[in-house]
Amino acid sequence: MSSFDQRLENTRAVLTHIAEEFSPAVFASSLAAEDMVLTDLILQAKLPIRIFTLQTGRLHKETLAVLDAVREHYGVDIEQYTPNAAAVEAYVNTHGANAFYESIELRKACCHIRKVEPLNRALAGNKAWITGQRRAQSSTRNDLAVQEDDTAHGIQKFNPLADWSEDDVWHYIRSNAVPYNALHDRGYPSIGCEPCTRAIQPGEDIRAGRWWWESADQKECGLHTVEQPDGSFKLVRASVQANADAGGVK
Ligand code: ADX
Ligand code: SF4
Repeated sequence: MSSFDQRLENTRAVLTHIAEEFSPAVFASSLAAEDMVLTDLILQAKLPIRIFTLQTGRLHKETLAVLDAVREHYGVDIEQYTPNAAAVEAYVNTHGANAFYESIELRKACCHIRKVEPLNRALAGNKAWITGQRRAQSSTRNDLAVQEDDTAHGIQKFNPLADWSEDDVWHYIRSNAVPYNALHDRGYPSIGCEPCTRAIQPGEDIRAGRWWWESADQKECGLHTVEQPDGSFKLVRASVQANADAGGVK
């Protein structure tokens, strides 16, 4: 068995394990390439895992088109969580619609309203959630475990593609004819909201186009971090190796 086939088998085993042991579990999809791999694996195996996306109101039309592509390809609607309208209105009226370029505080405040608060709602009542994060994506994800104790939300968090490479992701997408965001073919390896994402140049870091005006160690939006009393953000990283080993999860 090739090392890719082994990683794929492990990922399938992790997803089955989550469905059996951590129900109800949900998958947070940004509709980017990694998340399409997980969408395909979950839907092909008919696993009882609900799939949702955080519809921030600032996504590219190409990203929104993935919702239609999923409906056509799988006959499934990805659930959309939208921000609290009054909170968006207050931010826009007080600071301006694009105030996130002005300071890290205003950037994180926008991410809080458009992503973090809706995420909290989407996770409520679940035992586990799944993400498409990979270790190789960023220096902040070097020590990413497959299973983490998400103390911020009080549930388990799984990253079933933690050890996948970017080539693995594309190998899976092409071999299984999985629909994907058209922006990936236009120099966007990592895709977030439209005003905060741009294409990268060959040789640049894969997250160089995200919040490009900020330094690399600040490029997290709060989905995978916890806000500290001093206003700074800390990564939530408590790997659950004992449980993972017991469940046969590597
Ligand atoms: S981010 O924190 O910088 O925005 P990134 O785009 O790398 O994250 O995505 C990492 C994982 O976070 C995705 O695989 C997905 O599980 C989750 N995620 C990011 N953005 C969204 C979104 N808009 N909706 C749902 N999940 C998301
Ligand atoms: Fe707002 Fe940009 Fe964060 Fe999207 S990525 S929620 S537009 S600051």
